[in-house]
Amino acid sequence: MKAVQVSRFGEPGVLALADLPDPVPGPGRVAIDVTHAAVGLIDVYIRQGLFKDREGLPRPPYVPGLEVAGTVRALGEGVTGFTPGERVVALPGDGTGGYASVYVSDQARVVSTEGYVIEPALAAAVVPNAIMAHAALTGAIHLSAGESVLVHGALGAFAAVFPGVARKLGAARVVGTVRTGRMGAAAATRLPYDAVVDSAELPGALDGEKFDVIVDPVGGVLRTQSLDLLAPSGRLLLVGNAGGDWDHRIDGNRIWQGNITVAGFNAGAYLPAHPEAIRPAAEVALRAVADGLADTDIETLPLADAAAAHDRLERHAASGRMVLVP
Ligand SMILES: NC(=O)c1ccc[n+]([C@@H]2O[C@H](COP(=O)([O-])OP(=O)(O)OC[C@H]3O[C@@H](n4cnc5c(N)ncnc54)[C@H](OP(=O)(O)O)[C@@H]3O)[C@@H](O)[C@H]2O)c1
Repeated sequence: MKAVQVSRFGEPGVLALADLPDPVPGPGRVAIDVTHAAVGLIDVYIRQGLFKDREGLPRPPYVPGLEVAGTVRALGEGVTGFTPGERVVALPGDGTGGYASVYVSDQARVVSTEGYVIEPALAAAVVPNAIMAHAALTGAIHLSAGESVLVHGALGAFAAVFPGVARKLGAARVVGTVRTGRMGAAAATRLPYDAVVDSAELPGALDGEKFDVIVDPVGGVLRTQSLDLLAPSGRLLLVGNAGGDWDHRIDGNRIWQGNITVAGFNAGAYLPAHPEAIRPAAEVALRAVADGLADTDIETLPLADAAAAHDRLERHAASGRMVLVP
């Protein structure tokens, strides 16, 4: 098969095309002919070696990529419920294998997209993230119908699926924040935000509005500012550090004195522990995507451009989601 391999942790140039043997699915696993593989910031972190000491994550040489769309190629022993040729997406597993023409996944992480009209590039770009957003909003933060939600870094790959899924869960209002340079893109977005404000103008830009739930994939100062933007008994959901400030800390006294709940969600740990969350999440996520509630700008690139895609993601120079085509 055609694949992109990381030969050692390091700069984007460590990504190189390779010809590898076609993988064969073992028991309980499904082989997928990949049509599209999404490129995510997590792929960048793993390639940089940021998580090199974290158990369960790959070490070179490995094929990166953890969100794919394609069709079922072959079923391992004991797999039921899938048919060769069926359109599917695969959810993140151990962080490997997606940048290739064939991907093998545990059957629990494979979701059929049959019955939904969703372009495969969009499916790879948003369906796995939308399933994760559902798991986060229900399992970690218990969003209720009628509540309000604020999403930071509102146009980022993971953030972008939250408004649509939150709508499907009955959120009454969803507002986003972006950096000043992204206000133009925010004005043009098709994502179902009621409003998008400039994060540099917080809290003034919100005119005193407070939120039941804040979703924070950015971190840093924005995370601390969020404590002042929560409604009484509000919940802050931490899902990433896209801002790059891994040392930022929030003050525990402000949390207990403000009756604030801070929850974390990490799909890589959550989904294996809660496999029962995947099917109900998939139903809502697929409906949200098919209804156009996660319409994100997508750029498709050949597999050979993986290094360029990583370079742009690292420099925050991508305007939409980048998806590789093997
Ligand atoms: N918890 C989970 O299960 C899970 C799942 C997926 C992703 N994640 C995490 O979520 C984070 C985002 O990942 P992604 O794939 O969505 O990346 P992404 O597409 O690059 O999105 C990152 C977003 O954060 C914004 N941002 C970056 N630095 C910022 C700053 N200093 N201030 C304000 N906004 C800033 C970016 O804005 P610009 O467009 O202006 O650059 C962009 O909108 C990562 O930390 C990733 O590891 C977690």
